Amino acid sequence: MSVHAKWKKVTVPQIRDQKGGEPIVCLTAYTSLTAVLLDEHVDLLLVGDSLGMVLYGMDSTLGVTLDMMIAHGQAVMRGSRKACVIVDMPFGSYQESPQEAFRNAARVMKEVGCSGVKLEGGVEMAETIRFLVQRGIPVFGHVGLLPQSVNTAGGFRSLGRAEKEAEGVLEDAMAVAEAGAFATVIEGTVEHVAREITEAIPIPTIGIGASPECDGQILVTEDLVGLFSGFKPRFVKRYAELGESISESAKAYAEDVRARRFPAMEHCFGVKPTETKPTATKKAV
Ligand code: KIV
Repeated sequence: MSVHAKWKKVTVPQIRDQKGGEPIVCLTAYTSLTAVLLDEHVDLLLVGDSLGMVLYGMDSTLGVTLDMMIAHGQAVMRGSRKACVIVDMPFGSYQESPQEAFRNAARVMKEVGCSGVKLEGGVEMAETIRFLVQRGIPVFGHVGLLPQSVNTAGGFRSLGRAEKEAEGVLEDAMAVAEAGAFATVIEGTVEHVAREITEAIPIPTIGIGASPECDGQILVTEDLVGLFSGFKPRFVKRYAELGESISESAKAYAEDVRARRFPAMEHCFGVKPTETKPTATKKAV
């Protein structure tokens, strides 16, 4: 069990204070059902904008809207009792100005009731992070590979092999911490850079494709359980193959329906429970 008491909501200061302690366990959740299943096992649930790709079949996260994030955030809040719930700010909802970011983040906080928001970007977003934090909105940073910048980056690739790139990610993480973020995701970044950042900044680093050198880890839940099987990034460990189970269940159901094996008498209303075999002598009740 985590260091946090069972069923007591994990707070943002508790996450921040876990820096350098027991690894912080985070997963994504987009629905109430998933939140119920994950809640007691994790410290933090992220309603990630990856839902655009995972649930809606988009090619990137760019098409996700604030309304989508709010609806999924509300669903996750209904299913979670203990985990600290953070909601991603989608592309276009915070980049224009700190004021725009505050307006949209305040809407998320009011309508979802979550503990904070996450936004992507380093040095260039520091002013916005400071603006939000000073006005009562806890911010989870996100540096390294930035999925919302896929077009300027020219694709999804890991960062930090070249010295200049490594320095850039370190500067970004320092700017995010200095601006008041309570923790930061480091995505798709080589091990030694993740280690340097984790040692250099006073807030927890949460890695995804960023080695065990971080203070915690996050994965997309559908990757972890084998539900999003189009492609499996190197950093994902599969703990189940639910996609295969679902497909096999659908196949068995289709065969049963076509062979008139389903529904059987036990699935029917108006038939006595003992009368389980579909025979011509059955009496309806
Ligand atoms: O959108 C998301 O799910 C994320 C995590 C993978 C960090 O940003």
